[in-house]
Order: sequence, then structure tokens, then C-alpha cells
Amino acid sequence: MAGIPENPNPAIDDDLKRALGPVHLIALGIGAIIGAGIFVLTGHAAASYAGSGVVVSFAIAGVGCLFAGLCYAEYAAMIPVAGSAYTYTYATMGRLLAWIIGWNLVLEYLAAGSTVAVGWSGYFTDFMTKQLHMPIPLAFAGAPFKLEGFHHLVGTGAFFNLPAVALVALVTFVLIVGVNMSANFNNLMVATKLCIVLVVIFVGFSHIVPTNHVPLIPPNTGTFGQFGWTGVFRATGVIFFAYIGFDAVSVAAQEARNPQRDVPIGILGSLLLCTVLYMLMSWVVTGIAAYPTLNVAHPVSQAVEAIPQTAWLAPFVNVGAIVGLASVVLVLLLGQSRIFYAMAKDGMIPPLFAEIHPRFRTPWRGSLITGFFCAVLAGVLPLDILGELVSIGTLAAFVIVCAGIMVLRVRRPNVKRPFRTPLVWIVGPLGIAMCLFMMAFLPLDTWIRLGVWTVIGLIIYVAYSVRHAKPPRWKLEDA
Ligand code: ALA
Repeated sequence: MAGIPENPNPAIDDDLKRALGPVHLIALGIGAIIGAGIFVLTGHAAASYAGSGVVVSFAIAGVGCLFAGLCYAEYAAMIPVAGSAYTYTYATMGRLLAWIIGWNLVLEYLAAGSTVAVGWSGYFTDFMTKQLHMPIPLAFAGAPFKLEGFHHLVGTGAFFNLPAVALVALVTFVLIVGVNMSANFNNLMVATKLCIVLVVIFVGFSHIVPTNHVPLIPPNTGTFGQFGWTGVFRATGVIFFAYIGFDAVSVAAQEARNPQRDVPIGILGSLLLCTVLYMLMSWVVTGIAAYPTLNVAHPVSQAVEAIPQTAWLAPFVNVGAIVGLASVVLVLLLGQSRIFYAMAKDGMIPPLFAEIHPRFRTPWRGSLITGFFCAVLAGVLPLDILGELVSIGTLAAFVIVCAGIMVLRVRRPNVKRPFRTPLVWIVGPLGIAMCLFMMAFLPLDTWIRLGVWTVIGLIIYVAYSVRHAKPPRWKLEDA
């Protein structure tokens, strides 16, 4: 990869060296996208905010992501190096904005890794209990806190979420020793989870209990965001999490055979496909089970168990979720180590984050620190709090990406752009508007947590980054 002095993870780069076609790119996108969002957060969003109206939330979030994805694609083709939106912003919009976006990407990747690990734990625990009859003691099967209502954290009696911590530890080990993530392995994982999603949709569709969908959007309870249209919009911000990961396609822009054509096909194709699958899946899940029953750690297997005709699917759903969610944790933590690597190379964070292991040739200290914090979050926090925090951080990053692409069109009109966002003066503002809209409907507590996160980030920026930062390593060149 041009522009990076050392290769952070040769095993993965080797994979990406081959020419990727549109089908590979769509598979890459789906592999990174389908995870805890559809397998877990759908249940929480339906039960707490939107009822069956969650299907509308999926449609709205899908359109918002499409706009942001188009802007991402232009950046990725222009600056194809490690670090994703952080690197794009540093090369184009200055140090402070780059820091803010990098700091938010930590939320996107690290906290999302924790979120998906918690989701994985829900399905793993259910599988151990029901299929293997080896239940995990309750004290070690969940977080010590849960969210009650909208604001209150209450104790659950559990110590910590052992399966989630164990998964993060395993993934961290894999990332450090640099096990070769072959394309075939990724394809197998993608195929497994895709199959499960399709089977649930096909089998479940003919067994929908029509009364479960009436009314489509349950009436508002009198509280903003609790059902009614405000609930649908709030659910949109929550399930937005389900779409995170499409940037994996844009990161592979440089390896696409024909980026001008294939990257948009990869991004739009995987987003469109996931939007349709998500809408169908949420329709089926809220159709075979009543939405209030879905606020559990494994809502899809809970839903199929609600009626005898689909109950046989439960073990398959559990296995599909266990395989599929583990692969998403791997991709997310890999992404996080790349972002830390890029930030450390720029002097934004201490150099140890970019230190390469002499034998494994991976950024091992960065991966270890990432794994540690990811495991702590996964061990003690419930999934809904984590998911909402990830969504708001990512949405904030997307706003800056959409704005940045327009700023750059004005400031540097002649830079070589292998892919140009179509109708950028419409797509960019709409991307910003939709992301802000989704953020606006997230609970106030989530905004407060984002505020606290930003203040911590700014303290580190002032105390460390300002004094150590180097100029951006990537220079944009005019065509
Ligand atoms: N979109 C990914 C998921 O839902 C992060 O797990």
C-alpha cells in the first residue's frame, strides 16, 4: 500500500493485493455488515422503540448510509491507505478534525467490537444451554448492569460477561499472530450467516401471525421516542449500527480491478442487499413473535421458537449467529488496530501503537491494548448502551466525511479522483442531514456519553497530540 512506511499486517495485505471484482467487494461488504445489528439490536429496537415499525427504521437508515457510502467511496479511491476516514480527514481538513474523527472511529470500531461480542455471547449462551445442555452460570453470562427504562442503570446480579471477554481475547490472539484471513475463509463465514438470514426469511414468511403486525407502528406512550413515529426515528438511530462496516469496501478501493465502477457497485450493492434483507428479516421476526417479547440477548432464535412451525430453526440460527458475529468482531478489531496504527504513525498517539512485532509482523501492542479495552467494555456493559454509543460516534464521523468531500471539491478541484461521488451537491448535504437526523433521535444519555467521550479525547489531544503530531503522510496530488 502506497504511503505507509511499514506494513501493519502483511497477512491481510497479501489478501488484498489480488484484483477484486464487484462480487468480491459485495461479499466483503456483507461480511463486515451483517452482525449484531440484525441478530440482536432489532429485538431491542422493536421491543423498546418501534414495534413492527422497525422495518421502516431499517429503510430510513439504509438510505442514509447509501449517501454516506457514496462520499466514503470518493475519499477511499483518492487516499487508499490505512486509517480510513481518519487518514482522509488529516490529509484534507487539518489536525483537530482528524483527531476528532479518529477518536470517533475508536467508538465505531472498538466499542462496536464490544457490542458484537456481547451479541455473540447471547447466542453462544443460548446454544450452550439449549443445544449442549451445559448452561453458563448466570453470574458469568451477562453484564453486571442493564438499562431500565431510558435512563437508569440497574444491577443484574452478574459479575461479568465471560463468553464475550473470551471471544475478544481469542480474536485479539488471532490478530496478533496474524493468521492468514484467506478469502475462502471469509466467504465461508459470509455464506453461513447469509444462509441463516435467508432461511429465516423464507421459512418464517409463510408463518407470520398477521395480528403481530397490527398496528404497524404502536401508538406513542406519551414519552418522546417510545413508539409512534418518534419511536421509529429513534429506532433508526439504534439499528443504524446494523449498517456499520460498509466502509470495509471503500478501504479495498485500491485493490479493486476497476475502482471507478466496482467500488460503488460494492458499496451500493452490499448496502442495498443488506437493506432488503434487514427489512425482510425484521418483518418476519416481528411477525412470528410479538414485539414486546423480543428484548432478549438472542431475539432471532427467541422469535423462531415462538411458534412450533419455525422452532426447528433455533439451533441453526444460533450457529449462524455464532459464526457470523465472530467474523464481524475480527473485522472490527482489525480495523481498530489499523486506525491506531495510522494515528500513531502521525504522532497523534504514542508510537507503541504502531510497533510491529518482529516475528508476526503485526502491530501487536496496539492490538493488545485494543483487545484489553474491548474486553473490559464487553465484560461490563449491556448491548443497548454500547450499540447506541457506537451509532452516535459513527454518525458524527459520517457527517464530517460528507462535509469533507464537498470542501475538497472546492479547495482542490483538480485532485485525481478515481471515483467521483455522483451528484455530490445533493448527496453530500442529504448525507449530512440524514446522519444528523438519526443522531437527533438518539436518547439524551447517548449524547451525554458522546460529550464525555469527546472531552476525554480533547484532553488527550491537548496533552499529547498537539506536541507530538507530525504533518500528514499523505499528500494529495493534482491530476
Ligand atoms: N454492522 C455490524 C453489525 O451489525 C457492525 O454487527
